[in-house]
Amino acid sequence: MKPSPINKESVVKADAFLVSKTDTKGRITYCNPPFMEIAGYKETQLLGKPHNIVRHPDMPKVIFKLLWEKIQAKEEIFAYVKNMSADGGFYWVFANVTASTDNKGNTIGYYSVRRKPNPKALEVIIPLYKELIELENKDGINASYSHIEKLLKEKGMSYEELSNHLQRL
Ligand SMILES: Cc1cc2nc3c(=O)[nH]c(=O)nc-3n(C[C@H](O)[C@H](O)[C@H](O)COP(=O)(O)O)c2cc1C
Repeated sequence: MKPSPINKESVVKADAFLVSKTDTKGRITYCNPPFMEIAGYKETQLLGKPHNIVRHPDMPKVIFKLLWEKIQAKEEIFAYVKNMSADGGFYWVFANVTASTDNKGNTIGYYSVRRKPNPKALEVIIPLYKELIELENKDGINASYSHIEKLLKEKGMSYEELSNHLQRL
């Protein structure tokens, strides 16, 4: 059973890399000790499970839609993600997710490396995600998708450019 969210934050260490790998369906096939430590799960509780095991309800659906669109097209994505630990607490990450391919170019799984997000980026991301969730609750995912498209157009940036710009603020 999924834990209920509680207002307890864990902060990723500045020098840590949290790594996980999945199969093509997003089921976890590998995670490294720093990932397990902050998520609060043992390896046996994670392997074979869908990656949404750490999904936090504060995350807008549209971010995962973008993530899957990109990685299925074998493009990388950089995204800010609020994850939920086994105790219901949360931790923010700045994730880089990519497809892993065999020597014929077929996708054999996916790979995510997460780092500590820049706190200044989160000052922008937290209100943005709140807005996206409100739009999704009111008008569905198309509304939040259009909102992101409009925002990127206004800024003249791609999603990757915006994510990386925020990480370097
Ligand atoms: C390699 C990889 C890493 C992922 N990492 C996370 C993650 O850390 N947190 C998360 O909520 N979803 C992550 N996802 C996305 C999940 O598969 C899923 O799309 C998301 O949690 C939304 O789940 P839902 O559609 O059941 O709401 C990852 C997917 C892949 C392929």
